[in-house]
Amino acid sequence: MSLERTLTVRVARISRQTPEILAFELAHPWGRPLPSYEAGAHIDVHMPGGFSRQYSLARAPSSPNEGGNVTGSYVIGVKREGASRGGSASMHERVREGDLLPISAPRNTFPLRDEATHHLLLAGGIGMTPLLAMAQALAARGAAFTLCVFARSEEHLAFADALRHPALAPHLRLHLDQGDATQRIDLRALLAERAPGTHLYVCGPGGFMQAVREASAHWPEDALHAEYFAAPTDANTTTGLPFTLRLAQRGISVPVAADQTAVDALHEVGIDIPVSCQQGLCGTCVVEGDGEGAEHRDFCLTGSERRHKVALCCSRAKGTELVLQL
Ligand code: FES
Repeated sequence: MSLERTLTVRVARISRQTPEILAFELAHPWGRPLPSYEAGAHIDVHMPGGFSRQYSLARAPSSPNEGGNVTGSYVIGVKREGASRGGSASMHERVREGDLLPISAPRNTFPLRDEATHHLLLAGGIGMTPLLAMAQALAARGAAFTLCVFARSEEHLAFADALRHPALAPHLRLHLDQGDATQRIDLRALLAERAPGTHLYVCGPGGFMQAVREASAHWPEDALHAEYFAAPTDANTTTGLPFTLRLAQRGISVPVAADQTAVDALHEVGIDIPVSCQQGLCGTCVVEGDGEGAEHRDFCLTGSERRHKVALCCSRAKGTELVLQL
């Protein structure tokens, strides 16, 4: 994990959203503004116990709830996972208001697309956090969008007040598994046809992502944007055939073994590439290179970005060599 660009924030407020989800508001310890960001961005949170996790910022920098610029604080939502490897449990049990936490500056691998004429935002459970920020940003600029939120029940709906704010309410479709059957959303029907110019953004648990992927399989790749919490279970992000990295700026070649990632091979020869998730999710390790020659295994780059960028924690060469602008 890279601690580059780490800053320290104070936990200004913790509020319970659902039985499993807490919202944390993070502010500068001396009240200064925090680095600005765009809707869809996430931060790494380095928490007690040595854990580090990524959380999306759940409020647009200029939110209709707050008015004006709110980069005075960040809001994240943390779901306590039943099978927590320690991260969410640490946030729920050990972090209190007033505590100081190191975080990364915001990074955005899930931006709104300017070319879209309509934005369709699909949020499953805690996956609502980046999409809520995006919906607020779209409402603030008067853009055309629909926010579909899928939750188990009203009790499990996080950030309900923000969702029902008058600026968002007309754009909101709410699907509650245990709610009114007539209001449920049929994903296949919803995604059966794509109006020209519509872009789809999705974030949620693995099963939800899979269902959306299947229902939107006929959509053009450049119109689909996803933010994953974890790599799909069938993803292989670590091994493959051996190949060589050719570093164009240094004029050297670095071999990558079958059981190694490109990032590991570069670290071995002393070239520091920052990494965070190491699953192709966060974009920290992305560099410029011959994307056409890469076997892309990430979940963060768009189709057009893949032509000239490569996520080195997981992607490999299509053939025997991959050229990078390093
Ligand atoms: S480290 Fe997160 S995408 Fe590579």
